[in-house]
Amino acid sequence: MTDTPKVLFVASESMPFAKTGGLADVAHTLPKTLVASGLDVRVMMPRHARIKDAWAAQLKPLVQAEIAVGWRRKYLGVETLEHSGVTYYFIDNEDYFGDAIYRGGDAENEQYLFFCKAVCEATRLIDGSGIFKPDLLHLNDWHTGMIPFLMKTRYNAILGREIPTLFTIHNIEFQGKMGFEQMQDLLDVPELYNTPEYLELAGSANMMKAALVFADRISTVSPSYAHEIMGHWAGFGLEGILSARRGEVSGILNGIDTEDFDPQTDPGIAAPFSVADLRGKRSNKKALRDEFALTTALTTPIIAMVSRLTDQKGISLVRHVLEELLCEDVAFILLGSGDPSYENFFNYIAAKYPDTTGVYIGYNEALAHRIYAGADFLLMPSEFEPCGLSQMIAQRYGTLPIVRETGGLIDTVEPYNEFTGQGTGFSFATYNAHDMLEAIRRALGVYQNKAVMRRLRKNALALDHSFQRSARQYEALYETMIKG
Ligand code: ADP
Ligand code: GLC
Repeated sequence: MTDTPKVLFVASESMPFAKTGGLADVAHTLPKTLVASGLDVRVMMPRHARIKDAWAAQLKPLVQAEIAVGWRRKYLGVETLEHSGVTYYFIDNEDYFGDAIYRGGDAENEQYLFFCKAVCEATRLIDGSGIFKPDLLHLNDWHTGMIPFLMKTRYNAILGREIPTLFTIHNIEFQGKMGFEQMQDLLDVPELYNTPEYLELAGSANMMKAALVFADRISTVSPSYAHEIMGHWAGFGLEGILSARRGEVSGILNGIDTEDFDPQTDPGIAAPFSVADLRGKRSNKKALRDEFALTTALTTPIIAMVSRLTDQKGISLVRHVLEELLCEDVAFILLGSGDPSYENFFNYIAAKYPDTTGVYIGYNEALAHRIYAGADFLLMPSEFEPCGLSQMIAQRYGTLPIVRETGGLIDTVEPYNEFTGQGTGFSFATYNAHDMLEAIRRALGVYQNKAVMRRLRKNALALDHSFQRSARQYEALYETMIKG
């Protein structure tokens, strides 16, 4: 090992190349922050079709090979480019990586079983040719789950050294479950591992479980979630293995990209503002209201959501009481996509209440910035939330989050305390629609008090959500692991 830790950071998506959720933000900002403080961190991810389309001019071929994937021979290409000081390695195979980042079902299992094998082979090839010799692999979510197994049972021997693996859980709900035959067929996994001691959980082979068994260390994206997933209510069946390895599990809170999300310099918002000068916030609110053709007064509070529309995000609570909420003097804006039944519901609401609601079904980065900048409140009533970035981005724009007390939302939102007059948002504890409505009403009450509202906005704007603190924690963890 040299003095500068060399880390290969592996994920299925990363900004600005491909994103479906917060994982992509973290897989961009964390490596960038670590590189800026002197570590040699490089990112490896699939070359999805959209990357080839948008970045063709910069991509440089690095490796072209044929690898064994079970009985098959498959093409493995590695292409590279540098972005924000970070070297990216893209795993290319058009059979597996095309338009859909996640194909769903067995096809998706196959995509990422291939990916795990391809990452190990690509590491072997770039290591062997001296291009990059990692001291540690930092793996993220189930898509990378078989890598610790493959390293421990095969590749460390081939490479002639033990490369420690850190596995970060971004969401334990998604585990990569399949019949053992599929795993065996693609990765030649010996039958002896098909037991609850190793890869099996409730009758399925499970890629996330494989990672939790074989990785040297485990981390997750907030301290509260680290604690919660050791219990059966949040562990989705993996609480046993996590509790057993409790001493090797760390909860490290995510940060956000404070350069990309900066109300003082954001080129996409109507007017800049800051903790020292809040005036621009009003212009952003006006612009947002006009963009959605709302007829509400500028004094009417705007509650927004920017979210994947899935059960995790507590959308069923919103569906339950939104019409009741709309009886108040309030405007509601939603940007999101996901479950068609939720999409239909919000389209219905937009059609029924055109003057007070605005709905954009789809994914739109630029609009997200304008919503964070222009809204008064961001609603995030998640059933569970490993960390959550939206609430931190909202605070960065002086927009107060209204959240359920779960996972990272507990660690990032200080609920308004009426006795001290302090806080950085609002919260409720029980997963119940009327408890949520109650919290929203508390927020609307505070909104009427200009002085308190201003103080809370300033508190939120003053928070440091940069990745610096987490980066120091990851760095310390890497160092302990590399020293062994
Ligand atoms: P998750 O990763 O579970 O979806 P996070 O809060 O960690 O939740 O991250 C969500 C990220 O995706 C944030 O950066 C948020 O702004 C962004 N986002 C979510 N939905 C949309 C959308 N429809 N359009 C644009 N950005 C979105
Ligand atoms: C997952 C989680 C989210 C977290 C993100 C980044 O998508 O659902 O809570 O913020 O990963 O770690």
